[in-house]
Amino acid sequence: MKTSINIIQPDDWHVHFREGEMLKVVTKYSARVNRRCIAMPNTTTPITSSIQAINYKKLIESNSNSINFEALIPCYLTNSLNIDDFTYALQKKIFVGGKLYPSNATTNSQHGVTDIKKIYNIFEIMEKENSVLLIHGELNRDDIDIFDREKYFIDEELYQIRNTFKNLKIVLEHVSSDYGVDFVNSNQNIAGTITPHHMLLTKDDVFKNEDINPHHYCMPVVKNEKDLIALRKAACFDNNKFFLGTDSAPHHTNDKVQNQSLKPGIFSSPCSIELYATIFEEENALGNLEQFSSINGPLFYGLEINKETLTLDKRSKEINEFTEEGNIRIKNFSIDKKINWKVL
Ligand code: NCD
Ligand code: ZN
Ligand code: ZN
Repeated sequence: MKTSINIIQPDDWHVHFREGEMLKVVTKYSARVNRRCIAMPNTTTPITSSIQAINYKKLIESNSNSINFEALIPCYLTNSLNIDDFTYALQKKIFVGGKLYPSNATTNSQHGVTDIKKIYNIFEIMEKENSVLLIHGELNRDDIDIFDREKYFIDEELYQIRNTFKNLKIVLEHVSSDYGVDFVNSNQNIAGTITPHHMLLTKDDVFKNEDINPHHYCMPVVKNEKDLIALRKAACFDNNKFFLGTDSAPHHTNDKVQNQSLKPGIFSSPCSIELYATIFEEENALGNLEQFSSINGPLFYGLEINKETLTLDKRSKEINEFTEEGNIRIKNFSIDKKINWKVL
C-alpha cells in the first residue's frame, strides 16, 4: 500500500477569491497546493476590462504567500463589453478566456448575459484567437426544475454554440450530471471541470423535507447517485477531457443563513487536493490523479505543464469547522468520512 504519492503540482481551473478582506484570507489556501488558479471574475464589480484583470491578478498574487503562484483571469462576458479592449486583452494573454454566466444563474450573475445569441460576435473573436470559453452551464427559467438546469442549458444553448463555433474551445464548468458528462465526452473541443463536492454529495445531503443544508448548497446543485457515479468515472477513468476545478466559493456564514440571503457556494480550498486524493483512492485510481489534477488542464488551455511537484502523505487530515480571521468567518467544507491524504 502506498504511503506517499508525488505528483506534478496541480492547478485549480475554477476558484473564487472574492475581494477585500475575504480575498486576503482565502487566497493562501489555494496557493498552498496549486501553482496556478483561474480566478473567477464574478466579483461584486465584475472583471470586464483589461485594466481590471491586471489589477485583480496582482492583488491575488500579492496575497498568495507564494512567489511561484499565478492567477489567471477570464473576462466576465456581458452584453455590453468593450470589444477592442477584450480582443487586445486576449491577444496579450491578459485574459485567459471569457466566462459566460447566463443572467441570474448563480452568485453575482445579475450582470450576465440575457440573450446568448447577442454575444455570438464575442465567441467568433474568441474562436479566432484560439481562446477558451468557460461556461456556467445552467438555464434558469421558472418552468425548469433546479435539478434540470444543466440539461436544459445543454439542449437549448450549448449544442448550438458547439455547432456554430466548431473550433472554439469550451469548458463546461462544474459538470454536475451524467447528462453533462455524456455531452463533454461526445463532442469535440469541449472539456469539463469537476468539483470534489459533486463527487461526494447527493441531493439528500442538501435537501431534507423542507430544510436546506446551507453549507452543501451550491450551483449547480448536487444531484443523484447516478450523477455522482458518472462524475467519479469521468474524473478517475475517462481521463483526458476532465480536470480539476474546485469551484471553491467562500461566503460569510451570515450569507449562509437559511431563508434569508442563502448564497450558493462551498468553500473547499483548505482541503481540496486531499479530498480529490481520497476520492481517487476510493475508486482505486490514485495513479490517475496526476492526469486530472496537473496534466489535462494545461493541455486543454494550451499552457505548459508545471515543473514543480507536490507530495501527499497517507495520513489523516483534520480540518477546522471554520476559517476565521478578523471579521471573516467561513464554514469549511466537511464530510462524514475521513480524509486520508495530507500535504505537509
Ligand atoms: C459560485 C459563487 O459563489 O461565486 N457559487 C456556486 O454555488 N458555485 C458561483 C458559481 O461558480 O456558479
Ligand atoms: Zn458557476
Ligand atoms: Zn464557481
